[in-house]
Amino acid sequence: MIDYSKILSSKVTSIKPSGIRKFFDILDEMDDVISLTVGQPDFDTPWHIREAGINSLEDGRTYYTSNSGLLEFRREVCNYLERRFGLSYTPETEVLCTVGGSEAIDLAMRAVLEPGDEVIVVEPSFVCYGPLASLAGGIPVVVNTELKDKFKLTPEKLLAAISDKTKMLILPYPSNPTGGIMTKEELEKIADIVRERNIIVLSDEIYAELTYGKKHVSFASLPGMKERTILVSGLSKAYAMTGWRLGYACAPKEIMQQMVKLHQYAIMCAPTTSQYAGIEALRNGDEDIEFMKESYDQRRKLIHAGLKKMGLDSFEPEGAFYIFPNIGKFGMTSEEFCEKLLYSKHVAIVPGTAFGESGEGFARISYAYSVEHIKKALERMEEFIEALK
Ligand SMILES: Cc1ncc(COP(=O)(O)O)c(C=O)c1O
Repeated sequence: MIDYSKILSSKVTSIKPSGIRKFFDILDEMDDVISLTVGQPDFDTPWHIREAGINSLEDGRTYYTSNSGLLEFRREVCNYLERRFGLSYTPETEVLCTVGGSEAIDLAMRAVLEPGDEVIVVEPSFVCYGPLASLAGGIPVVVNTELKDKFKLTPEKLLAAISDKTKMLILPYPSNPTGGIMTKEELEKIADIVRERNIIVLSDEIYAELTYGKKHVSFASLPGMKERTILVSGLSKAYAMTGWRLGYACAPKEIMQQMVKLHQYAIMCAPTTSQYAGIEALRNGDEDIEFMKESYDQRRKLIHAGLKKMGLDSFEPEGAFYIFPNIGKFGMTSEEFCEKLLYSKHVAIVPGTAFGESGEGFARISYAYSVEHIKKALERMEEFIEALK
């Protein structure tokens, strides 16, 4: 008999699986559940984008692309970033096409971190940052953001987390799970600190297109920040393309060269069909983004009003497609609250603690669902809350 505990890497076994998954496993066992758990658009990928993928297959484009991705794709990334966010990148040397934003986050950490380097992780946040930082040899240092600050990273909190070992800050705005964003003025204060303390920034801007009211400001567009920023984004959220697994990273060429090496050995290239579809999305998809965003905005208002009516404290989210209500006043942990809601009313939402300890007392609700679906869930939630009062 093999003792697998002696075989497996302790670096990997010491990492906890994602807290979201555990909740999904319970969900899978139940019927008639209204789920508001999933972090992906409910829209099909717009047809002209799918057609571009299909056409590429019909034309026989079924081969590897260059490691960095089709130059045409990288050119479109640059055109798009300049058009939408005023960024200027060189397609040949500063852009890499990846398997979703997820791969780009992994590569960025592995290219930059040395053993013992500290990585500032702003929480509550997307689940992969801490584990990937650890796997890359880094030490995650968590900064807990708060409802009173609309879950923004404040200069005070950042300064308190910085030490002589700080190498990288991960900026996760617009935020999954809180729906928080950072304005230009707020980012400028962060920029002053990272410049002064010589910190590299991994800016995860996958929800850049989904802001309501205030336009997203890309961190690398601030004076002097491009040279110390690794921008990570992708097509999953803006173009409803989660299953195509298409993302990209932009970074100074010295960093990019190292990221390309890792990508080359582990992945070869992002899926060719997806890259062709991505070219079409980036070139002709601005109207699709506006259409879907308008729809999310309606749902955002609906769910915010619904939760307010129930007496749940939640700030109006300004980005992504999540709302993060405070459920602390009912004397239950987030997990207890969500499990009770699931078992008694068959409504599934995600405990805030899946996104870090500071998520305790909160739950993540995704509004990337139809209005009918959201209304039904809100009705059931209202009954649940009434019964708790
Ligand atoms: C904040 C954030 N970053 C990155 C990703 C990764 O997305 P993908 O790998 O589909 O591009 C997600 C997915 O949920 C996310 O929420």
